[in-house]
Amino acid sequence: MPNCAKSDPSRRRWTSALGMLLASTLVAGSATADPLAPTGRWSANEQGQAAVPPMGWNSWNAFNSGIDEEKILASAQALVDTGLSAMGYRYVNIDDGWWLKRRASDGRMVIRTAQFPSARASATSGQGADTTSFRPLTDRLHALGLKAGIYSDIGRNSCGQIYTAQFDNQPVGTVAEREVGLYGHVDQDIRLFFTDWGFDLIKVDGCGVRGLPADHPRVQSGLYRAFPPIIDMQSLGRTDVAAVRALYTSVGAALRRERPRGDYLLSLCLWGSADVRAWGKDLGNISRTSDDITPHWTRMLTNFDTAAKRELYAHPGSWNDADMLFVGTGEFDAQHMTEAKSHFALWAMINSPLVIGYDLRRLTPSLLAIFGNRDIIALNQDPAGNQAVIAYDSDDVQFLVKTLADGSKGVALFNRDAAPVDVVLHAGQLKFRDDVPVTLVDLWSKTTTSFTGEQRFTLAPHQTLVFRAQGVRRLGEGMYVSEQPGRVNPAVDGVDTPRADPTIHHSVTAWSGTKGPGEHVQYGGWGGARADRAVYGQVLRVAGKDYDTGLGVLAGSRLEVRNAGFRRFAAEVGIDDAGLAAGGPMRFAVYGDGKLLATSPPIDFGDPATVLEADVSGVKIVELVTRSSGPGDALPPRPAVWANARLLR
Ligand code: GLA
Repeated sequence: MPNCAKSDPSRRRWTSALGMLLASTLVAGSATADPLAPTGRWSANEQGQAAVPPMGWNSWNAFNSGIDEEKILASAQALVDTGLSAMGYRYVNIDDGWWLKRRASDGRMVIRTAQFPSARASATSGQGADTTSFRPLTDRLHALGLKAGIYSDIGRNSCGQIYTAQFDNQPVGTVAEREVGLYGHVDQDIRLFFTDWGFDLIKVDGCGVRGLPADHPRVQSGLYRAFPPIIDMQSLGRTDVAAVRALYTSVGAALRRERPRGDYLLSLCLWGSADVRAWGKDLGNISRTSDDITPHWTRMLTNFDTAAKRELYAHPGSWNDADMLFVGTGEFDAQHMTEAKSHFALWAMINSPLVIGYDLRRLTPSLLAIFGNRDIIALNQDPAGNQAVIAYDSDDVQFLVKTLADGSKGVALFNRDAAPVDVVLHAGQLKFRDDVPVTLVDLWSKTTTSFTGEQRFTLAPHQTLVFRAQGVRRLGEGMYVSEQPGRVNPAVDGVDTPRADPTIHHSVTAWSGTKGPGEHVQYGGWGGARADRAVYGQVLRVAGKDYDTGLGVLAGSRLEVRNAGFRRFAAEVGIDDAGLAAGGPMRFAVYGDGKLLATSPPIDFGDPATVLEADVSGVKIVELVTRSSGPGDALPPRPAVWANARLLR
């Protein structure tokens, strides 16, 4: 299969041509092939069990593929005995290493019974020696009040088979028997895993469609069949995004067939490749934004960075997954409690799944105090589902602010640096008034303080202070849209040439070390829609005026916004100063449940922001459309601003 990016190069030309063409049809309503035409619906995934980010435990970071039933059950029991399961850690996920082979006669997967004795035929159905079943194990997990997760790959072979030199528990048998991945067996395997074996979650890796070109040594040696790669981690141009998406879509469809009531969780593991930013949220419940985390501070930064600036791409039902926790190990072990607490708090703030990757048989009170910090768990599990927004950003210090369902704010002051630093938090960064007191409860020490206007703190090296803050809202009569990222879906974000975000920390990877030129991250998120800043990270700015609140978008975008009963929408719209002066006017339109409610006149670069207001009474989905009518093809992407975008009572 040749590698080709189907949609990307052509799309921009098409969009800009359409922009011109449709400027005239804007008022008249939608045109069929117009990607910016309002739909009146929420298009991000709502299927499956992920109203809040999943929590639990996974075997990979603790044991790699050296897993067995005793380890899995001991970890499950520890979740229960320590009270962690009652706090929400319910999923017990078996990662790579469980499979023995795919049965030659009928393709049924066979479990490695030497490691999982309860899966033996004698223990289950008596249907023949290699009819194995995880049902006894999932029954035990369910009896403990837990949920069970399993691991597979979208290709024919798994990551461990392809990439790992020394790997315990490799599948055995003929080439065909060692093809343990889902490829060609999606319906059969999903039925087996979910209906026969009783699993509740599947993590679907992508190594099998990425790593087996014909010249791979393990193909040449006859170990595996070649799979002409449809993912190239270094090149979207050599990635067949549509083909990758179609494969994962088939898994989603099989899950819905087997579990029509939606009692499943689909975990996408594409490490930010294949432009998954643009489509993973429409399909999966969680979607990995980076390659694997390792127990190193700087790698944690990389993984955090890939998700932290994607606040508008996470919603109830579809979360950014910065990978499993490494709290307890390496630079997050008992000697590094500051780092361990930071790692945990940051994952909570960005609504990443809280999945423990530690051997819970060795759990210490200090580690339990981290995993079991109810107040920080509550930030992650808050029903409003708003990922934190970065209120202050630098390579040294970041402030993250997360709007909670009760109107209070989760606040994290994060020192990325190895030296202590003095920082000042301003009430305005919380969107609270600066003339009345703000109360802060420190979620580690539980002490309460208050300040008016601003407050100074000293952050120790790598420390994250985490607070729950209460104050008087700056916007008394409603909510800024950027305070509710969980209710905003960039259905079309205008990114037509996905590029990795250059601000993501590039770490030395454990797998390559300093060999070669160094590894760039894959997540093509640069230029995606942002809360409270322009798409390339600058302050929102129109005609020389700065705005600390609003949405930064590219022209050629359509955002879906869920309206929780507000009656009026208002914003000041304009072309962002971050772009070039060239490019012709832009138009901004507000739709309510698919109907045009308000549209701006054509706005040129340098024009002051224009007020746009709409009556959204009774409207469920507000759509914010930004079009460029200029000769877009010849220009770089053009940033635009919905300043002070707000929903009012
Ligand atoms: C990939 C995934 C990891 C883990 C391993 C198992 O590297 O990203 O999370 O599942 O495969 O081999």
